[in-house]
Amino acid sequence: MTKRIFNFSAGPATLPIEILERAQKDFLNYANEGMSVMEMSHRSKPFEEILHRAKSGVKELLNVPDTHDILFLQGGASLQFSMVPLNLKKEGKDALIINTGSWTKKAIKEIKKASSCKIIASSEDKNFSYIPTIPSLASEDASFAYLCSNNTIFGTQFKAFPDTGSIPLVADMSSDILSRPLDVSKFGLIFAGAQKNIGPSGVTLVIIRKDLAENPDPSLPSMLQYQSFIESNSLYNTIPTFGVYMIALMAEWLKEQGGLGKVQEKNEYKASLLYKEIEENSYYYCPVSETDRSLMNVVFRIHDSEDVEKRFVQEATEAGLSGLKGHRSVGGLRASIYNAHPVEGIEALVRFMKEFQHKYQK
Ligand SMILES: Cc1ncc(COP(=O)(O)O)c(C=O)c1O
Repeated sequence: MTKRIFNFSAGPATLPIEILERAQKDFLNYANEGMSVMEMSHRSKPFEEILHRAKSGVKELLNVPDTHDILFLQGGASLQFSMVPLNLKKEGKDALIINTGSWTKKAIKEIKKASSCKIIASSEDKNFSYIPTIPSLASEDASFAYLCSNNTIFGTQFKAFPDTGSIPLVADMSSDILSRPLDVSKFGLIFAGAQKNIGPSGVTLVIIRKDLAENPDPSLPSMLQYQSFIESNSLYNTIPTFGVYMIALMAEWLKEQGGLGKVQEKNEYKASLLYKEIEENSYYYCPVSETDRSLMNVVFRIHDSEDVEKRFVQEATEAGLSGLKGHRSVGGLRASIYNAHPVEGIEALVRFMKEFQHKYQK
Protein backbone atom coordinates (compact mmCIF):
# COMPACT_ATOMS: atom_id res chain seq x y z
CA MET A 1 0.00 0.00 0.00
CA THR A 2 1.28 3.50 -0.80
CA LYS A 3 1.76 5.82 2.16
CA ARG A 4 -1.42 7.25 3.74
CA ILE A 5 -1.35 10.79 5.02
CA PHE A 6 -3.00 12.27 8.11
CA ASN A 7 -6.25 13.80 6.88
CA PHE A 8 -7.62 16.73 8.91
CA SER A 9 -10.41 17.52 6.44
CA ALA A 10 -13.75 18.73 7.86
CA GLY A 11 -15.64 16.20 5.78
CA PRO A 12 -15.77 13.88 4.04
CA ALA A 13 -13.20 12.89 6.59
CA THR A 14 -10.79 10.17 7.57
CA LEU A 15 -12.14 6.65 8.21
CA PRO A 16 -10.40 3.99 10.32
CA ILE A 17 -7.92 2.01 8.26
CA GLU A 18 -9.30 -1.28 9.67
CA ILE A 19 -12.75 -0.36 8.36
CA LEU A 20 -11.46 0.59 4.92
CA GLU A 21 -9.59 -2.72 4.80
CA ARG A 22 -12.67 -4.65 5.89
CA ALA A 23 -14.70 -2.95 3.15
CA GLN A 24 -11.93 -3.68 0.65
CA LYS A 25 -11.96 -7.34 1.59
CA ASP A 26 -15.73 -7.49 1.04
CA PHE A 27 -15.68 -5.29 -2.02
CA LEU A 28 -15.83 -7.82 -4.85
CA ASN A 29 -17.62 -10.61 -3.07
CA TYR A 30 -19.67 -9.73 0.00
CA ALA A 31 -20.26 -12.70 2.34
CA ASN A 32 -19.90 -15.18 -0.54
CA GLU A 33 -22.87 -13.64 -2.35
CA GLY A 34 -20.72 -13.42 -5.48
CA MET A 35 -21.24 -9.67 -5.75
CA SER A 36 -20.32 -6.39 -4.14
CA VAL A 37 -22.63 -4.56 -1.73
CA MET A 38 -22.72 -1.89 -4.43
CA GLU A 39 -24.31 -4.35 -6.86
CA MET A 40 -26.85 -5.79 -4.47
CA SER A 41 -30.59 -5.12 -4.48
CA HIS A 42 -31.64 -2.93 -1.58
CA ARG A 43 -34.50 -5.40 -1.05
CA SER A 44 -32.32 -8.52 -0.94
CA LYS A 45 -31.84 -10.64 2.18
CA PRO A 46 -28.13 -9.80 2.62
CA PHE A 47 -28.83 -6.08 2.31
CA GLU A 48 -31.73 -6.35 4.75
CA GLU A 49 -29.20 -7.77 7.22
CA ILE A 50 -26.77 -4.92 6.54
CA LEU A 51 -29.54 -2.38 7.16
CA HIS A 52 -30.44 -4.15 10.37
CA ARG A 53 -26.77 -4.09 11.48
CA ALA A 54 -26.51 -0.34 10.81
CA LYS A 55 -29.76 0.43 12.57
CA SER A 56 -29.24 -1.79 15.59
CA GLY A 57 -25.63 -0.57 15.83
CA VAL A 58 -26.75 3.06 16.14
CA LYS A 59 -29.61 2.05 18.46
CA GLU A 60 -27.27 0.21 20.80
CA LEU A 61 -24.52 2.84 20.82
CA LEU A 62 -26.90 5.71 21.57
CA ASN A 63 -29.36 3.68 23.58
CA VAL A 64 -32.15 4.99 21.34
CA PRO A 65 -35.52 4.48 23.08
CA ASP A 66 -38.39 2.67 21.31
CA THR A 67 -40.26 5.98 21.05
CA HIS A 68 -37.76 6.98 18.37
CA ASP A 69 -36.97 5.52 14.94
CA ILE A 70 -33.65 5.52 13.09
CA LEU A 71 -33.73 6.45 9.41
CA PHE A 72 -31.15 6.57 6.63
CA LEU A 73 -31.99 9.26 4.07
CA GLN A 74 -30.45 11.07 1.13
CA GLY A 75 -30.10 14.78 0.38
CA GLY A 76 -27.41 15.46 2.99
CA ALA A 77 -27.85 17.33 6.24
CA SER A 78 -28.88 20.32 4.12
CA LEU A 79 -32.15 18.69 3.06
CA GLN A 80 -33.01 18.36 6.75
CA PHE A 81 -32.97 22.17 7.00
CA SER A 82 -36.20 21.93 4.93
CA MET A 83 -37.62 18.57 5.99
CA VAL A 84 -37.57 19.51 9.66
CA PRO A 85 -39.83 22.58 9.37
CA LEU A 86 -42.03 21.04 6.67
CA ASN A 87 -42.83 18.12 8.98
CA LEU A 88 -42.71 19.75 12.41
CA LYS A 89 -44.23 23.20 11.83
CA LYS A 90 -47.48 24.05 13.60
CA GLU A 91 -50.00 26.65 12.55
CA GLY A 92 -49.50 29.90 14.46
CA LYS A 93 -46.43 28.67 16.33
CA ASP A 94 -42.81 29.73 15.99
CA ALA A 95 -39.75 27.60 15.56
CA LEU A 96 -37.24 28.71 18.22
CA ILE A 97 -33.65 28.92 16.99
CA ILE A 98 -30.30 29.10 18.75
CA ASN A 99 -27.97 30.67 16.22
CA THR A 100 -24.38 29.50 16.59
CA GLY A 101 -22.96 29.95 13.11
CA SER A 102 -23.03 29.38 9.37
CA TRP A 103 -24.84 26.03 9.45
CA THR A 104 -27.59 27.41 11.68
CA LYS A 105 -27.89 30.43 9.38
CA LYS A 106 -28.36 28.13 6.42
CA ALA A 107 -31.00 26.24 8.38
CA ILE A 108 -32.77 29.49 9.36
CA LYS A 109 -32.99 30.49 5.69
CA GLU A 110 -34.86 27.26 4.91
CA ILE A 111 -36.93 27.14 8.12
CA LYS A 112 -38.22 30.65 7.35
CA LYS A 113 -39.63 29.40 4.04
CA ALA A 114 -41.89 26.95 5.87
CA SER A 115 -42.55 28.48 9.27
CA SER A 116 -42.31 31.62 11.34
CA CYS A 117 -39.30 31.58 13.59
CA LYS A 118 -37.74 33.38 16.50
CA ILE A 119 -34.03 33.57 17.33
CA ILE A 120 -33.92 33.00 21.09
CA ALA A 121 -30.14 33.10 21.50
CA SER A 122 -27.21 33.94 19.26
CA SER A 123 -23.43 34.30 19.42
CA GLU A 124 -23.21 36.38 16.26
CA ASP A 125 -22.16 39.46 18.30
CA LYS A 126 -18.74 37.88 18.86
CA ASN A 127 -18.36 36.15 15.50
CA PHE A 128 -19.81 32.88 16.83
CA SER A 129 -16.83 32.30 19.13
CA TYR A 130 -18.95 30.98 22.03
CA ILE A 131 -22.15 29.08 22.85
CA PRO A 132 -24.81 31.54 24.04
CA THR A 133 -26.85 31.16 27.22
CA ILE A 134 -30.33 29.91 26.44
CA PRO A 135 -33.27 31.62 28.13
CA SER A 136 -35.93 29.58 29.90
CA LEU A 137 -38.50 28.25 27.48
CA ALA A 138 -41.13 27.66 30.18
CA SER A 139 -43.49 30.34 28.84
CA GLU A 140 -42.97 29.46 25.16
CA ASP A 141 -45.42 27.54 23.04
CA ALA A 142 -43.47 26.64 19.93
CA SER A 143 -43.46 24.01 17.20
CA PHE A 144 -39.84 23.03 17.86
CA ALA A 145 -36.52 24.39 19.14
CA TYR A 146 -33.45 24.09 16.92
CA LEU A 147 -29.69 24.06 17.47
CA CYS A 148 -26.48 22.82 15.87
CA SER A 149 -24.58 20.77 18.47
CA ASN A 150 -21.12 21.23 16.97
CA ASN A 151 -20.19 24.16 14.79
CA THR A 152 -17.83 22.72 12.23
CA ILE A 153 -16.69 26.11 10.92
CA PHE A 154 -16.33 28.13 14.14
CA GLY A 155 -15.10 25.29 16.39
CA THR A 156 -17.69 25.57 19.18
CA GLN A 157 -19.69 22.72 20.69
CA PHE A 158 -22.60 22.43 23.10
CA LYS A 159 -21.35 20.60 26.21
CA ALA A 160 -24.90 20.26 27.56
CA PHE A 161 -28.30 20.65 25.97
CA PRO A 162 -31.18 22.88 27.06
CA ASP A 163 -34.26 21.42 28.67
CA THR A 164 -37.01 22.40 26.24
CA GLY A 165 -39.83 20.77 28.20
CA SER A 166 -42.66 19.79 25.88
CA ILE A 167 -41.15 21.64 22.90
CA PRO A 168 -39.39 19.09 20.66
CA LEU A 169 -35.66 19.78 20.49
CA VAL A 170 -34.10 19.35 17.04
CA ALA A 171 -30.32 19.11 16.68
CA ASP A 172 -28.03 19.14 13.68
CA MET A 173 -25.31 16.76 14.89
CA SER A 174 -23.57 16.42 11.54
CA SER A 175 -20.12 17.01 12.98
CA ASP A 176 -20.33 15.28 16.36
CA ILE A 177 -22.78 12.41 15.99
CA LEU A 178 -21.66 9.26 17.85
CA SER A 179 -18.68 11.11 19.34
CA ARG A 180 -20.06 11.00 22.90
CA PRO A 181 -22.95 9.47 24.87
CA LEU A 182 -26.28 11.24 24.50
CA ASP A 183 -29.72 11.10 26.11
CA VAL A 184 -31.74 10.70 22.92
CA SER A 185 -35.03 10.85 24.86
CA LYS A 186 -34.42 14.60 25.31
CA PHE A 187 -34.59 15.17 21.56
CA GLY A 188 -37.48 15.26 19.13
CA LEU A 189 -35.19 14.86 16.15
CA ILE A 190 -31.48 14.50 15.52
CA PHE A 191 -29.92 14.55 12.09
CA ALA A 192 -26.41 14.14 10.77
CA GLY A 193 -24.72 13.80 7.41
CA ALA A 194 -22.61 10.65 7.79
CA GLN A 195 -19.47 11.97 6.14
CA LYS A 196 -17.61 13.23 9.19
CA ASN A 197 -17.94 10.78 12.05
CA ILE A 198 -19.73 7.68 10.83
CA GLY A 199 -19.17 6.93 7.17
CA PRO A 200 -19.00 8.28 3.63
CA SER A 201 -21.06 11.08 2.09
CA GLY A 202 -24.44 10.31 0.52
CA VAL A 203 -26.34 9.14 3.58
CA THR A 204 -27.96 11.14 6.37
CA LEU A 205 -28.83 9.63 9.70
CA VAL A 206 -32.12 10.81 11.22
CA ILE A 207 -33.32 9.83 14.68
CA ILE A 208 -36.91 10.95 15.12
CA ARG A 209 -39.54 10.66 17.84
CA LYS A 210 -42.17 8.70 15.96
CA ASP A 211 -45.19 10.71 17.07
CA LEU A 212 -43.72 13.84 15.46
CA ALA A 213 -43.96 12.23 12.02
CA GLU A 214 -47.56 11.13 12.35
CA ASN A 215 -50.23 12.98 10.33
CA PRO A 216 -47.95 14.78 7.89
CA ASP A 217 -49.34 17.55 5.70
CA PRO A 218 -50.83 15.48 2.81
CA SER A 219 -49.74 18.11 0.28
CA LEU A 220 -46.10 17.46 1.21
CA PRO A 221 -44.32 15.29 -1.40
CA SER A 222 -43.97 11.73 -0.07
CA MET A 223 -40.18 11.89 -0.39
CA LEU A 224 -40.19 14.80 2.07
CA GLN A 225 -42.36 13.09 4.68
CA TYR A 226 -40.52 11.29 7.48
CA GLN A 227 -43.53 8.99 7.75
CA SER A 228 -42.76 7.50 4.29
CA PHE A 229 -39.40 6.33 5.60
CA ILE A 230 -40.67 5.22 9.02
CA GLU A 231 -43.34 3.01 7.44
CA SER A 232 -40.90 1.47 4.97
CA ASN A 233 -37.90 0.99 7.28
CA SER A 234 -36.00 3.61 5.20
CA LEU A 235 -36.81 1.66 2.02
CA TYR A 236 -39.37 4.02 0.52
CA ASN A 237 -37.05 4.28 -2.46
CA THR A 238 -33.52 3.00 -3.16
CA ILE A 239 -31.55 3.60 -0.01
CA PRO A 240 -27.86 4.64 -0.32
CA THR A 241 -26.77 1.04 0.12
CA PHE A 242 -23.00 1.40 0.27
CA GLY A 243 -23.19 4.27 2.75
CA VAL A 244 -25.46 2.26 5.04
CA TYR A 245 -23.04 -0.69 4.83
CA MET A 246 -20.19 1.63 5.89
CA ILE A 247 -22.28 2.92 8.81
CA ALA A 248 -22.86 -0.70 9.88
CA LEU A 249 -19.07 -1.24 9.89
CA MET A 250 -18.46 2.05 11.71
CA ALA A 251 -21.04 1.23 14.39
CA GLU A 252 -19.31 -2.11 14.95
CA TRP A 253 -15.92 -0.34 15.12
CA LEU A 254 -17.26 2.15 17.69
CA LYS A 255 -18.52 -0.76 19.80
CA GLU A 256 -15.09 -2.41 19.52
CA GLN A 257 -13.59 0.86 20.86
CA GLY A 258 -15.60 0.27 24.04
CA GLY A 259 -18.74 2.28 23.21
CA LEU A 260 -19.38 6.01 23.24
CA GLY A 261 -18.08 6.62 26.78
CA LYS A 262 -14.65 5.38 25.72
CA VAL A 263 -14.91 7.16 22.36
CA GLN A 264 -15.58 10.43 24.20
CA GLU A 265 -12.57 9.86 26.49
CA LYS A 266 -10.37 9.31 23.45
CA ASN A 267 -11.81 12.37 21.69
CA GLU A 268 -11.17 14.48 24.82
CA TYR A 269 -7.58 13.25 24.98
CA LYS A 270 -6.96 13.94 21.29
CA ALA A 271 -8.41 17.46 21.46
CA SER A 272 -6.50 18.23 24.68
CA LEU A 273 -3.17 17.53 22.95
CA LEU A 274 -3.92 20.22 20.40
CA TYR A 275 -5.53 22.80 22.69
CA LYS A 276 -2.63 22.39 25.13
CA GLU A 277 -0.11 23.17 22.41
CA ILE A 278 -2.14 26.19 21.26
CA GLU A 279 -2.40 27.50 24.85
CA GLU A 280 1.21 26.92 25.81
CA ASN A 281 2.75 28.11 22.58
CA SER A 282 2.19 31.86 22.23
CA TYR A 283 2.83 31.69 18.47
CA TYR A 284 -0.70 30.27 18.04
CA TYR A 285 -4.04 31.19 19.54
CA CYS A 286 -7.56 29.80 19.64
CA PRO A 287 -10.34 32.36 19.04
CA VAL A 288 -12.97 30.19 20.74
CA SER A 289 -14.15 30.70 24.33
CA GLU A 290 -12.37 28.11 26.48
CA THR A 291 -15.44 26.35 27.85
CA ASP A 292 -17.10 25.94 24.44
CA ARG A 293 -14.24 24.51 22.41
CA SER A 294 -15.14 21.69 20.08
CA LEU A 295 -13.58 18.26 20.49
CA MET A 296 -14.13 17.69 16.77
CA ASN A 297 -12.98 20.84 14.96
CA VAL A 298 -10.03 22.63 16.54
CA VAL A 299 -9.89 26.15 15.12
CA PHE A 300 -6.65 28.09 15.61
CA ARG A 301 -4.69 30.99 14.21
CA ILE A 302 -1.20 32.43 13.96
CA HIS A 303 -1.04 35.98 15.32
CA ASP A 304 -1.60 38.69 12.70
CA SER A 305 -0.42 36.81 9.72
CA GLU A 306 -2.56 35.33 7.02
CA ASP A 307 0.49 34.83 4.81
CA VAL A 308 2.17 32.74 7.47
CA GLU A 309 -1.06 30.73 7.90
CA LYS A 310 -1.00 30.01 4.16
CA ARG A 311 2.60 28.86 4.46
CA PHE A 312 1.60 26.69 7.44
CA VAL A 313 -1.06 24.91 5.36
CA GLN A 314 1.32 24.44 2.44
CA GLU A 315 4.23 23.08 4.49
CA ALA A 316 1.92 20.88 6.56
CA THR A 317 0.51 19.38 3.35
CA GLU A 318 4.04 18.68 2.14
CA ALA A 319 4.71 16.98 5.49
CA GLY A 320 1.71 14.67 5.01
CA LEU A 321 -0.79 16.62 7.16
CA SER A 322 -3.64 17.62 4.86
CA GLY A 323 -6.89 19.61 5.18
CA LEU A 324 -5.71 22.14 7.79
CA LYS A 325 -7.02 25.27 6.06
CA GLY A 326 -9.86 27.00 7.92
CA HIS A 327 -13.25 27.17 6.20
CA ARG A 328 -13.17 29.59 3.25
CA SER A 329 -15.69 31.88 5.01
CA VAL A 330 -13.51 32.47 8.10
CA GLY A 331 -9.89 31.72 7.12
CA GLY A 332 -7.28 30.66 9.66
CA LEU A 333 -6.50 27.06 10.50
CA ARG A 334 -8.65 24.13 11.52
CA ALA A 335 -7.85 20.56 12.46
CA SER A 336 -10.88 18.30 12.17
CA ILE A 337 -10.27 15.33 14.42
CA TYR A 338 -13.37 13.19 14.34
CA ASN A 339 -13.78 9.73 15.91
CA ALA A 340 -11.60 7.99 13.34
CA HIS A 341 -8.69 10.41 13.41
CA PRO A 342 -5.76 8.57 15.02
CA VAL A 343 -3.82 9.93 18.02
CA GLU A 344 -0.64 9.58 15.92
CA GLY A 345 -2.01 12.19 13.47
CA ILE A 346 -2.48 14.68 16.27
CA GLU A 347 0.94 13.98 17.73
CA ALA A 348 2.42 14.55 14.28
CA LEU A 349 0.55 17.86 13.99
CA VAL A 350 1.78 19.03 17.40
CA ARG A 351 5.38 18.21 16.37
CA PHE A 352 4.87 20.08 13.11
CA MET A 353 3.45 23.11 14.96
CA LYS A 354 6.55 23.30 17.18
CA GLU A 355 8.92 22.95 14.22
CA PHE A 356 7.03 25.56 12.21
CA GLN A 357 7.11 28.04 15.06
CA HIS A 358 10.83 27.44 15.54
CA LYS A 359 11.46 28.13 11.89
CA TYR A 360 9.35 31.25 11.46
CA GLN A 361 8.85 33.02 14.79
CA LYS A 362 10.71 36.32 14.67
C1 LIG B 1 -22.92 21.12 11.15
C2 LIG B 1 -23.19 20.88 9.70
N1 LIG B 1 -24.46 20.88 9.26
C3 LIG B 1 -24.76 20.66 7.97
C4 LIG B 1 -23.77 20.44 7.04
C5 LIG B 1 -24.16 20.22 5.60
O1 LIG B 1 -24.05 18.88 5.31
P1 LIG B 1 -24.39 18.29 3.87
O2 LIG B 1 -23.27 18.68 2.97
O3 LIG B 1 -24.46 16.81 4.13
O4 LIG B 1 -25.68 18.85 3.42
C6 LIG B 1 -22.43 20.43 7.45
C7 LIG B 1 -21.36 20.18 6.48
O5 LIG B 1 -20.19 20.38 6.69
C8 LIG B 1 -22.14 20.67 8.81
O6 LIG B 1 -20.88 20.68 9.26
